[in-house]
Amino acid sequence: MSFLASLDRRSFLKQSTSALAALGFARIAGADGERAVREYRLVAAPADIPVAPGRVWSTWAYNGQVPGPMIRATQGERIRVVLENQLAEPTTIHWHGVPLPNPMDGLPGLTQEPVAPGGTFVYEFDADVPGTYFYHSHVGLQLDRGLLGPLVIDPAEPEGVADREFLLFLDDWLPTSPDDAMAAMMAVTAPGMMGGGMMGGGMGGGMAGATSATEPPYAGYLANGRLGTALDAFAVTRGERVRLRIVNGSAATTHRVGLTGHKLTVTHADGQRVAPVDVDSLLIGMGERYDVAVRMESTGAWTLLAGSADSAVPGIVLPVVYGGQQPSAAPITVWPTSLTRGKSLSYADLAPFDGHGGPSSGRVMTLTLSAGANGTWTINGQAYPNAEVLRFQLGERIRFQFRNMSMLRHPMHLHGHFFQLIDRATGRVSGAVKDTVTVEAMMGAVDVEWVADNPGRWLLHCHHAYHMEMGMMREVVVG
Ligand code: C2O
Ligand code: CU
Repeated sequence: MSFLASLDRRSFLKQSTSALAALGFARIAGADGERAVREYRLVAAPADIPVAPGRVWSTWAYNGQVPGPMIRATQGERIRVVLENQLAEPTTIHWHGVPLPNPMDGLPGLTQEPVAPGGTFVYEFDADVPGTYFYHSHVGLQLDRGLLGPLVIDPAEPEGVADREFLLFLDDWLPTSPDDAMAAMMAVTAPGMMGGGMMGGGMGGGMAGATSATEPPYAGYLANGRLGTALDAFAVTRGERVRLRIVNGSAATTHRVGLTGHKLTVTHADGQRVAPVDVDSLLIGMGERYDVAVRMESTGAWTLLAGSADSAVPGIVLPVVYGGQQPSAAPITVWPTSLTRGKSLSYADLAPFDGHGGPSSGRVMTLTLSAGANGTWTINGQAYPNAEVLRFQLGERIRFQFRNMSMLRHPMHLHGHFFQLIDRATGRVSGAVKDTVTVEAMMGAVDVEWVADNPGRWLLHCHHAYHMEMGMMREVVVG
């Protein structure tokens, strides 16, 4: 790892004058032969982001944009990203969902020293498993400031699921500092910690309806970095099939997504192919991705809607208009019942494209998700970093049984590995292959099975940034 970590400023500048600013392209000889290298440069720095006409968000971003630039390669190529830290704090980048060697996973203190202000780090890994992924800072709450972006690995053989694609990168918009938001939430959920006493700690964070205590004060939702109420129309042509790559980069918002007048055909979950299933809407947790294909078989003007799964108001309203038409004059302000009463995607609907499945034989480990004392969030009663390391042998099969004993959803994400969902009715490992799974509130239960085949120090955590920060995380050691 050291040869990647210690890129000095001089050689960095030499590279940046070549092709790093945009897409670089080179060929290098790797252990398994020659691979084309897709090279990018990401500069983490303060930026002013125009989220809507007359509204500027002063935050931190990669290359001055939210989301950051698309990182893209074709299966069989290699991705190299030079991170340059122009922030006043240390930072790292994590490649969410991409199975890669442990030293490239971007975990401060576990896989690398965080990149100091003024420093650089070179991430390099093979693009071997196609899919829709994303990348984000893995330091503190930096993700909620806009340090995130899309990453796509295209299959070597085109899948032919659509004629063209449209990225729908969802986010929740916090115009203020996430650290301030966290302090405000702590003042409500754990008054004992703020005032010196211990009152009320046992109920921390989990009480129903206490949304001000459980969510930062979001001022709206973003689609592709634009405020959801200020989006340009997406023009479509009758007869075409459009693939939507939906990424939920939100720090704390589960989104519902739907398109009026159209079915969504889910083709990929967390980038991995599934047997196609038609739905009217779907929920997508933080860190999850869905690819859906839409047959544009209508005429006129329709609306792609997204926004908090817990709100009747869709915060993201994106006009979808057939050639030459105008968006309808009155934008939708409430989720239409045609979508909310229609078919909503359930994990039980998802099976791998190749039908692969089998009996469960993994070592069973139950992971109970709860609200802990003093605003903490716990796995089996322990809040990271005061929590046991989960250790697995290389090649071991494990069954995680997630059990949610709290009042909020938890999208649980495992680093460095995929897992497969278990059908709890049959006990068979027959569901989607994913890396993030939303465990519903109030006794929600999801079982997954995985093979610990990637050695190193990884993390398992809730992808609600504030839950993670308050302890709903474990170090996972493989090998
Ligand atoms: Cu996107 Cu540790 O996660
Ligand atoms: Cu959570």
